[in-house]
Amino acid sequence: MKLARLRRLCRHGTLTQLAVFEAVARHGSITRAAEEMCLAQPTVSLQMKKLAEGVGAPLLEPGNRGLRLTDAGREVYAACEDVFARLTEMQDRVSNLQTRPPTTLRIAASSTAKYLMPRLLGAFWQSNPAVRIVLDVMNRARLITRLHSGADDFYVFSNPPEDKSLKLHRLTPNPLCFFARRDNPLAMRPRIPLSEIVAQPFIMREAGSGTRLAAEQLFAEHRVEPRACIELGSNEAVKQGLLAGLGVSLLSRHAIGSETDRADLVELEVEGMPLRRHWYLAYPANRELGEMEKAFIDHATRWTYDSRPELSEMRRSA
Ligand code: PGA
Repeated sequence: MKLARLRRLCRHGTLTQLAVFEAVARHGSITRAAEEMCLAQPTVSLQMKKLAEGVGAPLLEPGNRGLRLTDAGREVYAACEDVFARLTEMQDRVSNLQTRPPTTLRIAASSTAKYLMPRLLGAFWQSNPAVRIVLDVMNRARLITRLHSGADDFYVFSNPPEDKSLKLHRLTPNPLCFFARRDNPLAMRPRIPLSEIVAQPFIMREAGSGTRLAAEQLFAEHRVEPRACIELGSNEAVKQGLLAGLGVSLLSRHAIGSETDRADLVELEVEGMPLRRHWYLAYPANRELGEMEKAFIDHATRWTYDSRPELSEMRRSA
């Protein structure tokens, strides 16, 4: 029904008629509108007649000083303002798309954040397809050096450096847990004390890793130390170490990614675990933020990671 009425209007009325009508209404005069639009007066009068026919009501009437709007004319005038404002906005956006280079969002994240950042960024990119996104990943120590170089817009840490010149936004939780291969004797045990974990061979991340720092802080807090350690230089290497049955390790739950890994690895039920950490978005506090960066912060702080409930399912069925 609505569409039928719109079609009738489109058959008789055009955007040009609306533009002419807007000028006539503004000036209250066919002559002055014709001058402004460089048209002949009879052409303007004809356009007004056709528009009134299309709308189905007279739009102008003689007033004290020239032409004035009828009630129907006022409605059409208000619609003209809306339509022209919307069209101007559309035109601005289109020219921006053509003239401006795509905005680039540069993010450096810790190597463990790589398991969630593509999802977080992907969701932002879907609603901001014109933004070019560049993500670089490195361990915490290298990330801190990179932060000081100021090469990126944002930095994602689980364990950000204590630095008053940094602005931090807390993001989704990052639970850290102990993992082992499914056939490890601790795999089925409930409430394992930390002392039994450190009695196992322990797979430690490389120096400079935030995950390693978290493990060392936990052991120091409980005054324990792993009996034997092997050091492996990435989350992937640690997972391969676990799959090879080398021992147990502390990892972010986010790092236990692929289906195959999860089938063979189990999260150990250690007392006081998981360590309830969070991810943080960091940038220099004195930096002026653009609209896109503000939109990204808003997105990142609302976004939550699917916390993989299937891990506990897996433990039960092991
Ligand atoms: P990493 O990161 O262990 O991959 O260095 C963890 C963190 O961000 O603290």
